[in-house]
Parts: sequence; structure tokens; C-alpha cells
Amino acid sequence: MDSKIIKADFKLEKMESAKRIKDNNELKIGSEIFDKQTLQTLYKLSKQSYLDILNGAISTGKEANVLIGLKDNSTFVAVKIYRISTSDFRKMRYYIQGDPRFNVKSHSKRQLINAWVNKEFRNLNRAHENEVSVPKPITATNNILLLEFIGDTDGNPAQPVRNQKPEDPDNFADKVLFELKKFIHDAKLIHGDLSSFNILNHEEYPVIIDVSQSVVLDHPIACELLDRDILNLHKEFNKMKVKISVDEIKERINYYEIFK
Ligand SMILES: Nc1ncnc2c1ncn2[C@@H]1O[C@H](COP(=O)(O)OP(=O)(O)OP(=O)(O)O)[C@@H](O)[C@H]1O
Ligand SMILES: [Mg+2]
Repeated sequence: MDSKIIKADFKLEKMESAKRIKDNNELKIGSEIFDKQTLQTLYKLSKQSYLDILNGAISTGKEANVLIGLKDNSTFVAVKIYRISTSDFRKMRYYIQGDPRFNVKSHSKRQLINAWVNKEFRNLNRAHENEVSVPKPITATNNILLLEFIGDTDGNPAQPVRNQKPEDPDNFADKVLFELKKFIHDAKLIHGDLSSFNILNHEEYPVIIDVSQSVVLDHPIACELLDRDILNLHKEFNKMKVKISVDEIKERINYYEIFK
């Protein structure tokens, strides 16, 4: 057997037993995400040399777990694993159906999740190619997305703005609007879930994440999602004591040029 697979296998086993001892609640999450297919996908990624070791969790979200992976014992990668059991399939189907890039006819939940992960990968790629500050996507296989790890060289992840307030909020807000404008006008996407949880503060520069629900500009709900994003951003800026109105935000992102 490939030594890399053994290593990943060992690490995964070790992680699960460590969790079992530590906390029952975590064990539940552990067994939930590491179902048979997820394990097989992890082995596949390991065999393809994308990943050698799983090195602890960053976050347990509604639908996905984000873990720290290690490649070649030196490079950190973010491993986002979607859980089949807790995903909102109705929402996924609705968002995917209106997207001309996808043609998902299947009723299988797994296939819908795979399409969803692929959508996040393609959205990230599109943003990254247009020089938007997002994690660079590495690969998407089944329910697992590998992406550039945003954090320091010791493996400490950058925190969402919600947890790490910017030192200079006005300046940070400027950068957020600069990135958002590129996201919309260059990558031609609407985020759809813009919040202080989905903007990382990486050394005082914003990194936009969590783009699985992001839609292309001609999606039927693009305009509605954009308006919601703007209102949410306005609230977040207010909390940061940044004085800016909704109209000013719209002006800064060239709002009236978007759907022309
Ligand atoms: N590339 C990354 N580098 C470092 N940390 C990350 C990265 N991507 C995500 N994270 C961390 O994981 C958390 C959750 O990620 P993300 O927002 O993509 O998923 P989620 O909110 O759990 O997704 P969903 O709401 O669809 O379940 C982020 O708030 C952030 O702390
Ligand atoms: Mg999120």
C-alpha cells in the first residue's frame, strides 16, 4: 500500500480516537463527516498527493466542516468537507437550477452535494482568476473541497472579521469594497452570504470565503441577493463604527452598472 495512504489512515484513526476520549459531541461530528464515501475520497486525495495528513478542525458549520490538512509535511491546506446528513438540499437545488453553468437532473443527494462543491470550486476559481482576494482553489472531489489555507506559517488560521476586528476599520472597509467590486464586475458573481463570518481578516487584509451559494449575474435571484449582501455589509460596517450609508456603498461598487 502507498505509504501516504497509511499515513493519512493512521492520522484519521488517531483523530477519531482522540475525539472519542475528549468529547462525545465531537465524536458525533467526527463519525458524521467521516462516512465511508468521505473516507474513500480522502484516500483518493491522498493518493493523488493533494493531502497527507488531517491536522485538526478549524470550524464546524451548518453544512460543512473545515479542517487543516498538511501536504508534504510542510504546506497547509484547508479541507472543506460537506456533510450529506445536514445539507439543505432544497436550497442547493434552487441555487443550482438557476445557474446556466450546471445541468443537474439527478435526484440523488450525493450528486447534488457534489455539484454544490463543484460550484464553490468554480466560483472560487473565477474570483481568483479575476484577482479577487479569495483562497485559491486546489481541487474538488465529491463532497470535499481543497483550498489554499489562509493563515500564518505555523498553521494558525486567519480569523473571520467577526472574531478579529480590524485595527483600522475605515481602511479595512475600503479594501472590502474594492474586493467586492472586483468580485461583482470582474468575476461577475454575487456572493449571496456576505457577512463578518465570511470575510477573513488576514493580516489586516480581507479575504472573501464561503462562495458555494454565489450566483452568476443572470441568475434569477442575483439582484435580490445583491441587495441583501449590501444591507448586511452596511450593518457590519456600522458595527465596526465605519460611517457609510447604503447609497455610498452602492456608489462605491458601481451598483447601477451591474445589471445593465
Ligand atoms: N481557506 C481557509 N483558510 C483558513 N480558514 C478557513 C478557510 N476557509 C474557511 N475557513 C474557516 O472555516 C470557517 C467556515 O468556512 P466556510 O464559511 O467556508 O464554511 P461554512 O460557513 O461552514 O459553510 P456552510 O455555512 O455552507 O456550512 C470560516 O469561518 C473560517 O474560520
Ligand atoms: Mg461561512
